[in-house]
Amino acid sequence: MRLNIALLAGDGIGPEITEQAVKVCDAIAKKFNHKISWIPALTGAAAIDAVGEPYPDETHEICIKADAVLFGAIGHPRFDNDPTAKVRPEQGLLKMRKKLGLFANIRPTFTFPSLIDNSPLKRERIEGTDLVFLRELTGGIYFGEKGRKENGNVAYDNCVYSREEVTRLAKKGFELAMTRSKKLCCVDKANVLETSRLWRETVQAMEKDFPEVEVSYEFVDAVAMRLVQWPNSYDVLITENLFGDILTDEASVISGSMGLMPSASVGEKYSLYEPIHGSYPQATGKDIANPLATVLSAAMMFEDAFNLPNEAKAIRDVVNRSLAEGIITEDLAGESKAYKTSEVGDWLVENL
Ligand code: IPM
Ligand code: MN
Repeated sequence: MRLNIALLAGDGIGPEITEQAVKVCDAIAKKFNHKISWIPALTGAAAIDAVGEPYPDETHEICIKADAVLFGAIGHPRFDNDPTAKVRPEQGLLKMRKKLGLFANIRPTFTFPSLIDNSPLKRERIEGTDLVFLRELTGGIYFGEKGRKENGNVAYDNCVYSREEVTRLAKKGFELAMTRSKKLCCVDKANVLETSRLWRETVQAMEKDFPEVEVSYEFVDAVAMRLVQWPNSYDVLITENLFGDILTDEASVISGSMGLMPSASVGEKYSLYEPIHGSYPQATGKDIANPLATVLSAAMMFEDAFNLPNEAKAIRDVVNRSLAEGIITEDLAGESKAYKTSEVGDWLVENL
């Protein structure tokens, strides 16, 4: 197959980790007889520096022409510490999600047998965890009207959801549940928020279309607690944008490192694959960041965007072997030897 992939490395460790994923994808292409064309494009602080805009039109053009987008990370401390900055790297990510219509963010959480003891949580709690968050990605408080009033002394961010936005996300959740253990949890705060009541009402109305799926409704605060107490009790969870952002960071702790968890952002037409972690500025250029979340995101890309499950499996298998053999970066290494980002990438390529 000929595959055109837009490569948006972004900021911080983005370039280093995507470089490893590119090496692995190229090795897969060689092994399975595909031809990948990588089309690099600017995003984030890197794009602000170059053209004054975090998601330039040229980048958007490249993304819509590609078969899929592989994305690194976005964000720079120079903006984090300046609340008055008018243009921010993160705006680029949000604009990209909105313009590409990527309304569903699929974030799996699973454990790796060889890393169970890397998790700060007890083995017996997390063993066998295999859950997926479907986070709504183009609505809610992230995209509602925001601003200041009363001379800047009062600030507001509106949270808005339409029935249609909830329906299309929930539909993906039900469909995913049907391919797994047919359990769906709708995470909301319906005891307080009107948007959450719309979520609950909409999902309840959909239950009749998926009679085999057992649906539970839980408040986000309770889920935050139960997620680390009994992660095994969850399978597919659907939730709004901000709750999903927070809970998926929390869930990554189960696997032992944020550097391991991949994600896919999908819409009707386009799809983008990215690690759930951020740009990790402290590690930039040091060749120490964990590239596996990005490599595993590339596996999701082969499986979902290109419908090539064997290629995806080959990537996951070699990642599992690298972990089992201790070819790990410092976030996982503890007392044992820590490998460099590029060394992990090289090992994966050699062992594919
Ligand atoms: C994520 C990130 C982004 C988000 C930031 C960088 C805007 O934290 O992908 O989870 O909040 O969605
Ligand atoms: Mn986040």
